Amino acid sequence: MDLFEYQARDLFEKHGVPVLGGRVAETPEEALSAAQELGGGTVVVKAQVKTGGRGKAGGVKLAKSPEDARAKAEEILGLDIKGHTTEKVMIAEGADIAEEYYFSILLDRANRSYLAMCSKEGGVEIETLAKERPEALAKVDVNPLTGIDDAKAAEIASEAGFDGEDAKKVAEVFKQLWTVYAEEDATLVEVNPLVKTGDGKIIALDGKITLDDNASFRHEDHEELRDISAEDPLELKAKKLDLNYVKLDGEVGVIGNGAGLVMSTLDVVAYAGEEHGGVKPANFLDIGGGASAEVMANGLDVILGDDQVKSVFVNVFGGITACDAVANGIVKALEILGDTASKPLVVRLDGNNVDEGRKILDDANHPLVTLTDTMDGGADKAAELAASR
Ligand SMILES: Nc1ncnc2c1ncn2[C@@H]1O[C@H](COP(=O)(O)OP(=O)(O)OP(=O)(O)O)[C@@H](O)[C@H]1O
Ligand SMILES: [Mg+2]
Repeated sequence: MDLFEYQARDLFEKHGVPVLGGRVAETPEEALSAAQELGGGTVVVKAQVKTGGRGKAGGVKLAKSPEDARAKAEEILGLDIKGHTTEKVMIAEGADIAEEYYFSILLDRANRSYLAMCSKEGGVEIETLAKERPEALAKVDVNPLTGIDDAKAAEIASEAGFDGEDAKKVAEVFKQLWTVYAEEDATLVEVNPLVKTGDGKIIALDGKITLDDNASFRHEDHEELRDISAEDPLELKAKKLDLNYVKLDGEVGVIGNGAGLVMSTLDVVAYAGEEHGGVKPANFLDIGGGASAEVMANGLDVILGDDQVKSVFVNVFGGITACDAVANGIVKALEILGDTASKPLVVRLDGNNVDEGRKILDDANHPLVTLTDTMDGGADKAAELAASR
């Protein structure tokens, strides 16, 4: 999960990283009172969108007074930045900037390690700097077990070219940012710019944090950071039902058991779709092993809630949960859903107790259900049905 800048600022503050006062506002009036609360002096009004390059897009503006902050907020709220609409702004205390640096800690998957990056030339687009003048960007391996301790912080500062008092001061902030990274279970903490003020203080002026969703179980407080308005409503519903669902852009709903089987089902459906006007899979949904009738019903309910879906392909390989149990699940799910189930279902069962499973579906003789023998055949049938509706 990516955080908004104001949320990153709050987490920085919680872990002792030096930041300036900041308040979030959703209307120009709120921006005005936020600027007053911050002392009535110069503030910076910043678009809160989860994308980079806000400054260039006109989403970061200086305001000399609370009234000016209201006017700037009026300009920025609603602004489209690379396809993201600005719904909120942060009103940040204005900093007296002497120098701008760059610092980040990230998960280096290729090296199975963490990586710290630092440059004395911050504020700018770091991708450009990394490409054009890679020597200006220090990259230092961080051992996940020891993290950024005194020695590592000093190494990063020195690699980036800091010396004297500055080196000591930035090293202190690197350690604090490491605390954020480790204790919040982040996969990215980036500060651009990290600034030195006129009076020599080091402050994090902009923050980007990505939290590791796999660790959310040990961070109850992260739930409220979630931006529900930006999430796909179907994915949200699936998450509440504890389903492994990803919305895609096609017309053929897909349900399977086991991530590998579902992935290959997506491929087969996409391939079959080419013969039927280019229809595509509408989603990924893995109902896992031991899928009960209720899980099947929940899965179908989510998929049928997708207006784009024209047919559904249920592709199940009976293992620990035998095909007869799955077949009973499908029949019960259709009972539970009643009239909500209004689109054709192509079912392919194979594996443990397949004959019993097929018999149950045959006997139920549901008008929406078509049984097929093979995965390819099922995908073809589902694509054909989707194309003809
Ligand atoms: N509180 C502040 N006081 C003074 N100047 C600021 C403040 N916040 C930002 N700035 C200036 O505006 C520039 C851009 O701000 P910031 O880094 O937050 O946005 P950005 O880099 O455009 O956005 P992104 O990081 O999303 O690409 C900074 O480099 C800094 O010079
Ligand atoms: Mg920035």
